[in-house]
Order: sequence, then structure tokens, then C-alpha cells
Amino acid sequence: MPPPLYLDSPPAMKYRVTLIKGDGIGPEVTAATCRILAAAGAPIEWEDAPGGAAAVARYGVPMPQETLDSIRRNRLGLKGPLETPKGKGFRSANVTLRQELNLFCGYRPVRSLPGVKTPYPGVDLLVLRENTEDLYAGIEHDLGRGTMMSLKVSTAAAGERIARWAFEHMRNHGRRRITCCHKATVMPLADGAFLDAFRQIGEGYPFIAKDDVLVDNLAFQLAQDPTRFDTLLLQNLYGDILSDLAAGLVGGLGVAPGANIGDRVAVFEAVHGTAPDIAGQGKANPLSVLLSALLLLDYVGETRLAERIERAVFDVLEAGAHLTGDLGGKASTGQFTDAVIDRL
Ligand code: NAI
Repeated sequence: MPPPLYLDSPPAMKYRVTLIKGDGIGPEVTAATCRILAAAGAPIEWEDAPGGAAAVARYGVPMPQETLDSIRRNRLGLKGPLETPKGKGFRSANVTLRQELNLFCGYRPVRSLPGVKTPYPGVDLLVLRENTEDLYAGIEHDLGRGTMMSLKVSTAAAGERIARWAFEHMRNHGRRRITCCHKATVMPLADGAFLDAFRQIGEGYPFIAKDDVLVDNLAFQLAQDPTRFDTLLLQNLYGDILSDLAAGLVGGLGVAPGANIGDRVAVFEAVHGTAPDIAGQGKANPLSVLLSALLLLDYVGETRLAERIERAVFDVLEAGAHLTGDLGGKASTGQFTDAVIDRL
């Protein structure tokens, strides 16, 4: 009997994904990622869109409307690091993306990787951050006489939305325990509302264990033993700081993937910056943006493909012969990329 047609044919449909290559090392790490995904046969068609310093030169803003429209249309984006010109009155391109597209969930898995030496083996932590409120709402006032005020915004609606997303995600991905982080002892209203929302939504998920911890205590416990935690839920500022801390515990920003997810749109991104000190030298580690692209594949349901690429990446990391400088090796971005493609 002839094999079913679909086994021989290329996938009928490709996912169209907006690609923001970014500044500094961005074009190098995104090119490496696209090459690996193409070699693995990922059904993706990239749509290039400007962002960061490169966009300022042409459009006058770091996050042009054209790019936002492209992501809205495709509902999927992959983003390299972006440079926001300092002190020139531009709103950060990353903040613009989150606010304009309502990407309310900051998604940062933090895992120990094979071959990446850290004091903490066996970490498998998911950091979820409310992305739209808190001190990042951007409401600041100069009250005069040298007094500045920055407002912390915390609504029940946003707390419930991120909590619901977190519990649903855990239910679908077999995660068992969630810890809500706050400082409700000092900010009983703003942080208390976030904690109340967590508790109220959590009642609908009796099969998931829940607890809460003061954010300073969390920092202390993470430094001692990050394997104590499964999933963390945090407001914007705490999440920003502690997700980087958690990434640092397992090998640094160069290897940590991330995403910003909303109801209709998701943008996957390298969490490190533009690394101007090594840009254009072929030294950058593409892992962060590559692992973010694997999150994208998983998000659209191409989980087996994501796992196959991840296996190849882990094999290369474990073998240790093609590590980039940040991981203690001597390989260039291109040599690491070729090694992963060879394993595929
Ligand atoms: P950075 O992450 O660019 O660099 C910090 C250090 O880590 C540097 O020594 C760099 O060489 C190294 N590094 C970072 N990524 C690496 C990689 N993939 N492979 C190997 N080494 C890597 O942070 P920095 O210097 O604070 O920021 C530089 C620029 O990046 C700034 O303009 C900042 O605004 C921007 N930035 C953008 C972000 C984004 O778009 N998500 C996030 C953080 C910073």
C-alpha cells in the first residue's frame, strides 16, 4: 500500500512569524536560529520587520507601527535584542511591544542545561511575570522641590488575568506547585490585591499546590536552592529582577529563553541585550533566541519538532567541543550552529 500522502509531502501550511532581528548581536543570533530551524524542516516563513536602533534611523521610533501591524497580523513574533537610545525621549521598544500588543504574561523558563556548569543542577523553574502594571505603568510625577513620585498600579482584573493564565498553563503542562511572590506586608493594597487575585483564582484549581512568599525571602531562597520552587508568579518589577536572577543561577542570560504572551499574540525573545562588546565578531551565543524559537514551536503545537531540535542542542552542549566563549569554549556562533545542524 502506498504511504499516506502526508508522509511524503511537505507540510501544507507554514506559520508566518514576524522576525525582528534586533541590534548588536541580534542579526547574528537570529540568523543562526533561522538556519537551525530551516535545517530541521520547521514549517516557518519569516516576515522581517524593523525594530530598535536600526528602526530609529529609518522611522524615527524604535518600534514602528509597521512592525506592530506585522505581529498583530501573524500573531507570532521572534525578536532579537533591541537597543533603545538612552536619554532621547524614546519609549523603550520592549515596553511599547508589551503595552501595544497587551502581552500581559512574561514567560521565562529557567532550566539547568546539560554541559553548562552551574552550582545548581536540576533546576526546572518557570517564572511568570505580570507585564502590564506595577511601577512600569509609567505614571511618574515631578512634585517639585526635588520630590518625584512613581505610582504602583495593581488592579484585580490584571491580577486575575495572569493568575488564570498561570493555572491554566500549569494544568496543561503538568506543573504541580505555584508560589505567589509579593510584599503585602508593606504594600497591603497594591500587593495584597495581587495576592487576593491569586488565591481567588487558585480556588478553581484544587489539584495544584499553592503558597506565597515575601519577595525578599524569595531572593534569599533562590540563591540558596532554586530547586525548591516549581512555578513563580510575580508582579512586574519583582518579576523583572528575579527572572534575571534566576537565569543567572543556571548559566546566565546568554542561555535563557523568554516570551511575552497575550490572549491573541505571542512574541518570543532573547532575554539578553545587544552585547555591543562582542557584536559583529561571530562570538555571540545564539542559545537564548534559539531556545525562545523552540518555545514558539511548542506554543503552536510543534512540540515534537521542538524536542528534536532541543535534543540536538543538548547533545552539542553535553559534548562540549563547540561551546561559545560565554560558556567557556572557543567556538564561533557559526561553528556552534553547524554543530547543532550536524546533530540534527
Ligand atoms: P547585555 O546582555 O547586552 O550584555 C551583558 C554581557 O553579557 C556582555 O558582556 C555581553 O557580551 C554578554 N552577552 C549577552 N548576550 C550574550 C550572548 N548571546 N552571547 C555571549 N555573550 C553575551 O546587557 P547590557 O550590556 O546591559 O545592554 C546592552 C544593550 O542591550 C543596551 O542598549 C540595553 O538597553 C539593551 N538590552 C536590550 C534587551 C532586550 O532587547 N530584551 C535586554 C537587555 C538589554
